[in-house]
Amino acid sequence: MSLVEMKGIHKYFQAVHALRDVDFHVGDNEIVGLIGDNGAGKSTLIKILSGLFPPDGGEMYIRGRKIGPKRYSVKRAHSLGIETVFQEQALGDLQPIWRNIFLGRQPTNALGLLDVRKAREEAHYVMTELMRFTGAGMSVDAPVRHLSGGERQGIAIGRAMYFDADLIILDEPTRALSVKEVGKVLDFISRIKEVGKSCVYISHTIIDVFNVSDRFVIMDRGEVVAERAREDASEASLIDLIRNTRT
Ligand SMILES: Nc1ncnc2c1ncn2[C@@H]1O[C@H](COP(=O)(O)OP(=O)(O)O)[C@@H](O)[C@H]1O
Ligand SMILES: [Mg+2]
Repeated sequence: MSLVEMKGIHKYFQAVHALRDVDFHVGDNEIVGLIGDNGAGKSTLIKILSGLFPPDGGEMYIRGRKIGPKRYSVKRAHSLGIETVFQEQALGDLQPIWRNIFLGRQPTNALGLLDVRKAREEAHYVMTELMRFTGAGMSVDAPVRHLSGGERQGIAIGRAMYFDADLIILDEPTRALSVKEVGKVLDFISRIKEVGKSCVYISHTIIDVFNVSDRFVIMDRGEVVAERAREDASEASLIDLIRNTRT
C-alpha cells in the first residue's frame, strides 16, 4: 500500500487544463523527484495533495484510505502526516529561529500561554539532533535573517520532521540557492531518508535531485509523461525526457 496515491486527477484554472488525468503515488521511506519544465503542473499537483485546494476530478488515498475532497484541508493533511514547504513560502525574517519553528503551533503551558522555555529547548533539539546544524554559534535565538537560504530550508524541513510528518513535500527548495547551499539542502533531504520518512522533491532541473531520489516522475503540460526508478535512469536520460516532451 502506498503512503499516498492520487488517481486520475484533473484541475482547471478557468480555460487552463492544468492537470490531465494524473496518477501519482509515494511509497514509505521513498524520495520522489517530481520534475518537469516551468508550467508543467508540478506545484498544482502537490497543492492538491497538501490540501490547499481540491481537484476537479480524480481520487486521493492516504495509507489506503479514501480522502473526501470536501473535508480535506492543509490542517487535515498535517494531521495525516503530510507537511509541505511551498515554493512561495517565506519564514518571518525578524523572528528568532525558535519562534519560526513553532509558528502557529506553539507549545503552551498549563495556563494556555506560550511555553518559551520548552519552545527554545525543542527548537534546539530540532537544529542539533534532527537536522544536525553545524554552523558555529548558530543559536535558536538568532533571527531568521541571519540564516542562509539553504539553512532556511533546513529549518522548514526540521519543523516538518519535528511535527512527525511521514511525507515532506518541498517545492523547488533549491531554486534561488548557490551550489554550496544546494548541497546543504540535499544533506537535509538525506536526513529525511535516514529517519525513515518520505519526500517529494520538486525541481525544474534534475541535476541536483538525481542523487537523493529513489524514483523520478516527469511532468509536461499537465500530464505525467514518464516515470523512472533511479537505477534505470541517468541524468542525461532524464534531461532528454524533459526536453523531448517539449518538441
Ligand atoms: N492559481 C492559478 N490560477 C490560474 N492559473 C494557474 C494557477 N496556478 C497555476 N496555474 C497555471 O497552471 C499551469 C501549471 O502551473 P504550475 O502547477 O505552477 O506549474 P509548475 O509548478 O510545474 O511550474 C500553468 O499554466 C499555470 O499558469
Ligand atoms: Mg511550481
